[in-house]
Amino acid sequence: MIRFTNAIVRLPCRNLVNGLAGAGLGPPDYGKAVEQHAAYVEALRGCGLAVTVLEPDEAYPDSVFIEDTAVLSDDTAVICRLGAPSRRGEEKGVGLALKPFFSGLEAILAPGTLEGGDVMLVARRFYVGLSARTNRDGARQLGEILKRQGMETVPVPLSTVLHLKTGISFLGDGLLLASGEFLQQGIFSDFAIVAVPAGEEYAANSLRVNDRVLVPAGFPETRRAIERTGLETLAVDVSEFRKLDGGLSCLSLRF
Ligand code: GLY
Repeated sequence: MIRFTNAIVRLPCRNLVNGLAGAGLGPPDYGKAVEQHAAYVEALRGCGLAVTVLEPDEAYPDSVFIEDTAVLSDDTAVICRLGAPSRRGEEKGVGLALKPFFSGLEAILAPGTLEGGDVMLVARRFYVGLSARTNRDGARQLGEILKRQGMETVPVPLSTVLHLKTGISFLGDGLLLASGEFLQQGIFSDFAIVAVPAGEEYAANSLRVNDRVLVPAGFPETRRAIERTGLETLAVDVSEFRKLDGGLSCLSLRF
């Protein structure tokens, strides 16, 4: 499992309340989102990461979900062309923030679209969800960039989830946390699967950071299932981000 030393986050903007939402849970409470975000940053720091915190960007309601703007590998950052038109442009400031850390900067170009939430890294292999946000051309472009670095990409057709990592997370050591359509997905048949209990599907977006797994607060069965594998967990409340279909992984870029 890769050990992370850094993370980049972006503070929620007031315009967050106008973010894209499909969950039907109502708009997020901005004040509560700010508090939850601060606790999330502290959790990352508690896992040993140095966290760069970017200023809020009011032009983009969803800009707190910074993971979607880039895919990071070794010394290269791939800047995404987001699939959601209202989010296109979020990536510009992120490229600047990543520049000091990465010697190579690449970009996904039109007509390709790619969102980082659709990309799951397992060792030297990137699984790329083909979703409403990430198209085949975006996945192909990413594959070509990563191939030059000796890495492979595996496309994963999605049917129900927004992003690949909405429904599946890599916990390290050949272990996946999975829900719904991914429980029967042959592409992942070589992995040991921790199944997310029915009713707790949102917790499939948990986040392994070094020696801990961050789990969204309020999903005790999933937390226990992860702990049974011997991993240490930490519950982090992201209820306001859930209202915008966002989760623990979406809120940071880790490297
Ligand atoms: N609200 C996050 C997204 O839909 O991209």
